[in-house]
Amino acid sequence: MPSYTVTVATGSQWFAGTDDYVYLSLQGTAGCSERHLLDKPFYNDFERGAIDSYDVTVEEDLGEIQLIIIEKRKYWYQDDWYLRYITVKMPTGDYLEFPCYSWITDEKEIVLRDGRAKLPRDDKTQILKQHRRKELETRQKMYRWKEWHPGFPLSIDANSHSDLPRDIQFDNEKGIDFILNYSKAMENLYINRFMHMFQSSWSDFADFEKIFVRISNTISEYVMQHWKEDFMFGYQFLNGCNPVLIRRCTEIPKKLPVTMDMVECSLERNLTLEEEVKQGNIFIVDYELLDGVDANKTDPCTIQYLAAPICLLYKNLENKIVPIAIQLGQKPGPDNPIFLPSDATYDWLLAKIWVRSSDFHIHQTVTHLLRTHLVSEVFSIAMFRQLPAVHPLFKLLVPHMRFTIAINTKAREQLICECGLFDKANATGGGGHVQMVQKAMKDLTYSSLCFPEEIKAKGMDSKEDIPYYYYRDDGIKVWEAIKSFVENVIHIYYESDEVVCEDVELQAFVKDIYVYGMRGVKSSGFPKMIRTREKLAEYLTVIIFTTSAQHAGVNFGQYDWCSWIPNAPPTMRCPPPTEKGTVTIEQIVESLPDRGRSCWHLGAVWALSQFQDSEPTMELLGMTTIFLLICVSCLLLVTTWRNRKQPPGPIALPLAGNMLQLNPKNLPESLKKLSEKYGPVFTIRLGPRKIVVLYGYDVVKEALIDQADDFSGRGKLPILERHFKGSGVATSNGETWKQLRRFALTTLRDFGMGKRSIEERIQEEAHFLVERIRNTHEEPFNPGIFLIHAVSNIICSIVFGDRFDYEDKKFLTLINLLDENRKYQNAIQTQLYNFFPTLMEFLPGPHQKMIKNNEEVDKFISEIIAQHQKTRDPTCPRDFIDAFLNKMDQEKGNGHSEFTVESLSSSTLDLFLAGTATTSTTLQYGLLILQKYPEIQEKVQKEIDGVIGRDRRPCMADRSQMPYTDAVIHEIQRFIDFIPLNVPHTVIKDTKFRNYFIPKDTMIFPLLTPILHDSKEFPNPEKFDPGHFLNANGTFKKSDFFMPFSAGKRICAGEGLARMELFIFLTSILQNFTLKPVVHHKDIDITPVVTVMTNKPRPYEVSFVPR
Ligand code: HEM
Repeated sequence: MPSYTVTVATGSQWFAGTDDYVYLSLQGTAGCSERHLLDKPFYNDFERGAIDSYDVTVEEDLGEIQLIIIEKRKYWYQDDWYLRYITVKMPTGDYLEFPCYSWITDEKEIVLRDGRAKLPRDDKTQILKQHRRKELETRQKMYRWKEWHPGFPLSIDANSHSDLPRDIQFDNEKGIDFILNYSKAMENLYINRFMHMFQSSWSDFADFEKIFVRISNTISEYVMQHWKEDFMFGYQFLNGCNPVLIRRCTEIPKKLPVTMDMVECSLERNLTLEEEVKQGNIFIVDYELLDGVDANKTDPCTIQYLAAPICLLYKNLENKIVPIAIQLGQKPGPDNPIFLPSDATYDWLLAKIWVRSSDFHIHQTVTHLLRTHLVSEVFSIAMFRQLPAVHPLFKLLVPHMRFTIAINTKAREQLICECGLFDKANATGGGGHVQMVQKAMKDLTYSSLCFPEEIKAKGMDSKEDIPYYYYRDDGIKVWEAIKSFVENVIHIYYESDEVVCEDVELQAFVKDIYVYGMRGVKSSGFPKMIRTREKLAEYLTVIIFTTSAQHAGVNFGQYDWCSWIPNAPPTMRCPPPTEKGTVTIEQIVESLPDRGRSCWHLGAVWALSQFQDSEPTMELLGMTTIFLLICVSCLLLVTTWRNRKQPPGPIALPLAGNMLQLNPKNLPESLKKLSEKYGPVFTIRLGPRKIVVLYGYDVVKEALIDQADDFSGRGKLPILERHFKGSGVATSNGETWKQLRRFALTTLRDFGMGKRSIEERIQEEAHFLVERIRNTHEEPFNPGIFLIHAVSNIICSIVFGDRFDYEDKKFLTLINLLDENRKYQNAIQTQLYNFFPTLMEFLPGPHQKMIKNNEEVDKFISEIIAQHQKTRDPTCPRDFIDAFLNKMDQEKGNGHSEFTVESLSSSTLDLFLAGTATTSTTLQYGLLILQKYPEIQEKVQKEIDGVIGRDRRPCMADRSQMPYTDAVIHEIQRFIDFIPLNVPHTVIKDTKFRNYFIPKDTMIFPLLTPILHDSKEFPNPEKFDPGHFLNANGTFKKSDFFMPFSAGKRICAGEGLARMELFIFLTSILQNFTLKPVVHHKDIDITPVVTVMTNKPRPYEVSFVPR
């Protein structure tokens, strides 16, 4: 029977893995295979970043494989999956690759074809033709055109980022929220104290430095120092962030009646103005488009103004471009004087400021928004609608447009919407920017997007005449590079111009752009059809250049050029001067943006100038720089690596280490202080032991995810070591850990053991819990112990096969022992044992009791294991222990097997230790918080009533319809920050991390507090606020910073179980009861009791009032 090897690659981004069932069928020219479940026994398939292989044997020869059908079916709850690709090794030994690079959501079936690029005419079989057609039909339903404003290029039909097809959403929505979140940017820039100061003027230019000094960079500082100079003013028309408006002046326009007298003192060649024009030394920038645009009226307390200046520039003998005349309005006349460099200093300065302000408006709305973002969105939508994934042009274009639609949708949601940033701080807000785009559409021609043509049309193409126009020089190089690459690709797939003409998909793509993007306007010059390979190369170059290089060129310099506010005022608060000789410094400052608007502007240009890891647009222009940077970084790395620099830290005493500098009662706080001094990676010594602390999201992510293998060791704590001897899931390392973890994960997943799912078990336990609470008849009590019993019964049910009655003596003894240990674990002596084991071994204290208790628990578990050995049926494992015993049988011949009675006993204990206090304390803490905020409790109950009702048991499928409850549970976990220091890791080999050398076996603390309480991600982190996990429209908002379960290879093995327990227990309680505190809710203290390992709620009592 023919056999195929199928290799499946899961994405490595967050949440890419799945626990769902995955089935595969192969469809060949001679037939279709059966549906195969892709599942390896005792293995966690399709983990994030995994590449898993499976053998698929089929009954008969399928012929040439054409398609793969993948079906995903729910296991616990809908678990989205990002499938990168599937490779199939044929019986002949050949390989075929089937790219997917998409999210598979819900219980979907997707059909993939092999990834070789094919034009429509290359598809010969009906199966493939049909697949191609269906793909486009589906895409056209998903990617629909919509008119955002009359006269605009059409955009995507989606009101919010979450409405977009999943595949084009940002992987990391939070990341991009941050990019567009200028209020967070302001906080970052330490300027938020000014942000509400509307109407409050700065006192002079130096006063602007208050918001500037802390945040300047080399360029912006240079701008601040030289912005008043004519040279700097002129230079920006060539190489600032809007280097597209300047053109050579071939004739002085009538509307700018400049005379020789006026400019004589600026001209250096002893020529008349006319002769200078003829020689090509005069340039012009005309802001006519702003004429008649309404200024922002959204704030009745601040009148704002726009102007439509014309600026004449001169190339002097040093080949520098300098301004020689400025008229602030389009209509000449006595109240519209022409300002000159020879005028009074402030007259001339204010005229230049007006030009800079007008330039800012055109830059933001026309150059940036319309001519890169909106146009690129047109290209992108047309591509998704008309080019199937196997089309070579889809493959060519998609990397440049993957996030275009998403960023535009986000911008429409947050930036250019009503009450967005434009309305807040820009004179073009309140609708002016819409009028500008509508007007600018007439100049949005195809030829104006052909970079060399456009430069030529403006008379700016001669390198000799205009030597310092770097935007042009770099742009031409990038244009040529793209074009030559595109030409080569085209020649591979299109043998002749005829092939271009008959490619119906390409022609439909071109037509879509013309009809929907350019609204069918003939004068736009956009082609309706492409007939030759040469034209096609140009067309594709326009698309790629606009979406990548052009955007990079006009976007990323915004902070450099526009952060010094007087150099790019986003609004002007006095009308343009109408006569000369009257301007004062006070008038200039009054005209410039107030403190509030300055801050909003600064936040915005900073935010817009940031780029994402996944933002492809910066790649082209920045290539050389990046390459150089990489070289320099490598050099630096090599040097430091040689010097073996270890992370810095406070000086340690020989025996005590840094114990005296750390407050054992609040280690997180002490570590925070050290991080402020030593940065995000630093070393401390606890006793003789050296520990590297990782402080903050970036470093923890880099260590636990990007360098996951290196940091996957478990830090050895002697107190646990003494008991476990390194043999349980949580404490072991190396091959033992790999095998035990994999086994535990699969078993937790595959077994709610036997017949019932874990979900059913939790529902049943929740029912018992509710009944037990009901019997308290509203008497106040501390619910802690009830919760411990309920949660540990779930583990009992998985591990021992059944739950215990709440009154069962054995059960109560076991729970008591574990609970006592939890307390002992936090005792100072226990911690000392961890660092001075030999000494503490001989001293009395709670650590000794803990050791004793562990022995008792061990005995209890050993007895149950012995019973299982007697009563089990290997063909029908009842629980974790039976499954483990079966595994031991399977590995009998293997002298090195990791599956032994000791590791069974340790793993069982691990599940109890790791799975009980964590979840039950989280619930206990959650119930306290909900008492403090009765309005939040009420909202959750409302959602429960609406989605579940009062009669049915809550189940996991409800969660997706309960975003508020989901957000509350996330916020509980974030707020309480249960394991602030995380569980210690080690590096398993000598490790290079950032610039440091960390020797093998060094203990690592990848702290969780700084992540869960990161003030940029969670504004006001010390406040309990479900809004941290909600979008403005009430939908659930994911966050990469949600890490209570840690991350990477050691991430909590019970995460799925814990989240299920939290949801079902909490909703079951609130479905049946309202929590009534014994004190006034405002007096409830929800700050944690900080212990060494965990944060606990303060003890409390509560009565549960039946609903
Ligand atoms: C709210 C509940 C829980 C929280 C906050 C939590 C948190 C954590 C954390 C922070 C770690 C350390 C990860 C690392 O080393 O990077 C961990 C490890 C672990 N957790 Fe949980 N946990 C919870 C519930 C559970 C449950 C219910 C189980 C079990 C059934 C469980 C089993 C484990 C195991 C076995 C490990 C060790 C993993 C390894 O070393 O490979 N946890 N947990």
